[in-house]
Amino acid sequence: MSAAPSPSHDHPDPTPDALIAARPQLTRHPMDGLLFEGVPLAAIAHAVGTPTWVYGAATIRARFRALANALADARLPAHIHFAVKANDHLAVLHVLGHEGAGADVVSAGELLRARAACIPAARIVFSGVGKTQADLRLALDHGIAQINVESAEELAMLSDLAAGMGRVAPVALRVNPDVDAGTHAKISTGRARDKFGIPYAQAAALYAHAGTLPGIAPRGLAMHIGSQIGTLAPFRAAYGRIAGLVRDLRAAGQPVAVVDCGGGLAIPYRDEPVAGPVGLAGAIAAEFGGLDVELLIEPGRWLIGPAGVLLTSVILVKRDGGSRFVVLDAAMNDLVRPAMYDAWHGIVPVGATDLVRALAPADVVGPVCESSDTFARGRALPPLAPGALVAILDAGAYGAVMSSTYNARPLAAEVLVDGAIDDDATLHDGGRARRAAIRWTTIRPRQDVTTLWRDEAVPDWLK
Ligand code: LLP
Repeated sequence: MSAAPSPSHDHPDPTPDALIAARPQLTRHPMDGLLFEGVPLAAIAHAVGTPTWVYGAATIRARFRALANALADARLPAHIHFAVKANDHLAVLHVLGHEGAGADVVSAGELLRARAACIPAARIVFSGVGKTQADLRLALDHGIAQINVESAEELAMLSDLAAGMGRVAPVALRVNPDVDAGTHAKISTGRARDKFGIPYAQAAALYAHAGTLPGIAPRGLAMHIGSQIGTLAPFRAAYGRIAGLVRDLRAAGQPVAVVDCGGGLAIPYRDEPVAGPVGLAGAIAAEFGGLDVELLIEPGRWLIGPAGVLLTSVILVKRDGGSRFVVLDAAMNDLVRPAMYDAWHGIVPVGATDLVRALAPADVVGPVCESSDTFARGRALPPLAPGALVAILDAGAYGAVMSSTYNARPLAAEVLVDGAIDDDATLHDGGRARRAAIRWTTIRPRQDVTTLWRDEAVPDWLK
C-alpha cells in the first residue's frame, strides 16, 4: 500500500515536528508536551497507564463533517455508512451515529454493536463474503436497510431464509469490477482473482434472477475494491464499470435505485500525497451524478484512522553494536499493521523535553518474541529514556479491533478525548470556553490479565 514499507521510500522520513504540524489534532505545548485535541497525553498515561488507545471525538466529528460537506458540495445524495470493522468501540460508534452516520457491518457482532450504539437498523448495511444463516436471520429480524450479497449461492440462501420468515430482504449485489486498486495486495478486493463480489460478467443475469426470487427485493449494486487507495484512478475505473452496469440493467427493464460505492479512501500515514474527500466526491459525481441513484459510501479508515493514537512507554533502550532498539510496552499484539502489512506509522515523543532534542535513528520494537514485532526501522527520534512516552500516530483504524492477547498480553485500555483541534477557531481565540469543555474518559479499562484464562477449563481427568 502506498503508506507502507519504510525501506522503499526514497526521501527521509518526516520528523516528529513535521508529523505534528500536518495533524490538527496534535499540538506541542512547551510544558505539557504533546497534546491530543488539547489534552496532554502525558496526563492520560499518568492516570491510565500504557499502552492505551486514545481517540478524539472532535477529530471524528470534524472528519465526518468534511466528508459529508464534500458529498453535499458535489450535490450527491449520498449517505455515509461507517465501516465498523475499522473501529467498533461503542463510544466511537455513538459519536459517528450522532453525526448521522450509518454503519457498514460484516458480522452479527458488528450489527449488534451498531444497534447497541443506537444506530438505527434503517441506516445499516451488511457486507461480507461469508455471511452465515444466523447472520442473515439477524439482519432480517432487525430489518436493516440493505444486505450486500456477494454470490449466487448467498442469494439462494437468503431467498430461502427470507421467504421462510415471511420477510423481503432488501438486496444489493456486490459486483467485482475487476479493477486493481493499486494498494497493498493483502487489502485489494476488486480484482477478478479476489474472493469478493460477483464476477462482473455474471452480475446482470444474477440481478434479473434476483428479481424473480421469493423474499428478495433487488435495490441496486455495491462494490468495494480495497483499502488505503491513494489515487482517484482506480475509483473512477471501478465506478465507471458499475455505472455501465446500472445503465445496462435499466435498459433491460431492471430497476436500480441504489449504488453502494464501498470504502477505501486513503489517509497519509507518512507524507504521501493522497486523494481526499473532495476528490472522491468528484469521482463519484463524475460517474454516478447523472444516474439518479441513491448513493452510499462505506469509509472506515479515512474517518477514524487519524482520530486515534496508541500511547505507549519505553521499557528500555537496547544498544547493540551500531543499533539503538527502543523497546516499547506496546507490541504487534496491540497494533499489528506494521507486522502484517509493513505499514508505516508516525512515532512522536510525548515529553516536552523529548520533543526538542536532537534526532538520531532508532529501531522501534515491541517486546513480543517475533522479529515482525517491529514498529519502525531507522526512525529519527530523540534520545528516549526508560519511561519516556511516545505516541504511535494514525492508529484509530484497524488498531484496537485487530488486537490479540498473544504472549498473554492483556488488551490495552481505551480513552476518548473530546477536545479541540487546531482548526477550531476557539482554540486560537482565547478559547477559554472551549478549553473548559475539554474532557476525557476511559472508555475501556485495561484488561485484567486473569480474564485471559477466566473461561478456560482444565478437564477433571487431568487433575
Ligand atoms: N467496505 C467493505 C466491504 C470493506 O471490506 C472495507 C474494508 C471497507 C468498506 C472500509 O474500507 P476503508 O475505508 O477502511 O479502507 N486491516 C487493513 C484494512 C482492511 C480493510 C478491509 N475492508 C489495514 O489495517 O490496512
